[in-house]
Amino acid sequence: MDRRDILDFLRREGVSEHILSEVEYFRSFYQLREEMQGRVPEPLYHYYGKEIWEQALTTLLAGEHLLLVGPKATGKNVLAQGLAAAMNRPQWDISFYINTDAGALIGTDTFENGAVRLRRGPVLRCAEEGGFGVLDEINMARNESLAVLHATLDFRRVIDVPGYERVRLHEAARFIGTMNYGYAGTREINEALASRFMILQMPVITEESLQKLIGDKYPALRQDYREQFAQLFSDIRRKCEGGEISAGALDLRGLLASIRMMEHGLTAVRALELGIVNKCFEEYERRLVSDLLAVRFPGDLGKEELFERT
Ligand SMILES: Nc1ncnc2c1ncn2[C@@H]1O[C@H](COP(=O)(O)OP(=O)(O)OP(=O)(O)O)[C@@H](O)[C@H]1O
Ligand SMILES: [Mg+2]
Repeated sequence: MDRRDILDFLRREGVSEHILSEVEYFRSFYQLREEMQGRVPEPLYHYYGKEIWEQALTTLLAGEHLLLVGPKATGKNVLAQGLAAAMNRPQWDISFYINTDAGALIGTDTFENGAVRLRRGPVLRCAEEGGFGVLDEINMARNESLAVLHATLDFRRVIDVPGYERVRLHEAARFIGTMNYGYAGTREINEALASRFMILQMPVITEESLQKLIGDKYPALRQDYREQFAQLFSDIRRKCEGGEISAGALDLRGLLASIRMMEHGLTAVRALELGIVNKCFEEYERRLVSDLLAVRFPGDLGKEELFERT
C-alpha cells in the first residue's frame, strides 16, 4: 500500500483537516534519510476509529509520547504501526518481558578485535534516527528496569549511556507504549512512568467498524455474513459486559482467524469453536457462547454459502 494512501484513508474516516495538515507539515519538515525508508511501516490494514486517531496524532504532533492501554486485540499494534506510517517515521518494535533491562534497551558493550565497542540497542537507535519506538507490552518489564527510560521520556529527552556520552533524542523521536489491561487485569506500571505518557484507553471496535474491517480482510465474504459476524461479536460483548461470561471469547483475533478457516473449507460453527468458543475455559461459558452461534449460523453453513464464487 502506498504511504500516501493512509492519509486518504484518514480523510475518508473523517479525521480533522487541521490535524491532517499538521501531519503533512511534520512529514515534509522531518525529511527521512534514504536508508531509513525500509523501516517505515506499510500497513496492510488500517485502524478504524476516528476519535482515537485524532487523539493519538495530536499527542505525537505535540511532541508527547503515547501509551495505548486496552484489552487484547483492540488494535494497539495496528494503530502504532499506522501512526508511524501516517507520520512517515521509521519504526522500532521493542518487546518487553520480565528480564528486559537497560542493556537490552539502550546497548551493551561488546568486544570486537580486542576493543570494547557499544552495540546500540533499539531505544538508542530509534532515538538517534528520530524513529517511533513501540514499547510493546511495556508493563511486562520490572518497574526498576524501566527507570532508565525516565530521562528519555520526559522533558530532558536524553539517554545516558553508561561509559559513553549522553545522547539527545532526535526532535522527531517518539515512543508509543502498549499495554494489555483487560477486564481480568494485569500488571500495572508505576505512576512515575505513566506520568511521562499521554494515555489512550483503547475501546473495543464498534460493530459498524468491524463490518468494514471484515470486508477489508475478506472481500469475498457475502455482505449479510459480514453483518452476522459483526453482530455475533456484539452479542458476545454484551454477555461480557453483563458479567455472564469472562472476556475470553471476546477475541477479535480469533474471530478473524475463524473466517480465514472458513475460506479453507471448515464450516462456520466448527471454525468459530476454535477461534471463539474454546477461548472460554469454563464449560458453562462455552455452552453459552455456542448457543449464541447456533442462533445465527446453521450447523452446515460452509464456504459455498459464505463466500462469493471467484
Ligand atoms: N479498531 C480497530 N481497527 C482495525 N483493526 C482492529 C481494530 N481493533 C482490533 N483490530 C484488529 O484486531 C487484530 C489485533 O490487533 P492488534 O494486534 O493491534 O491488537 P492488540 O491490541 O495489540 O492486542 P494484544 O493486546 O493482544 O497484543 C488485528 O487483526 C486488527 O486488525
Ligand atoms: Mg499487541
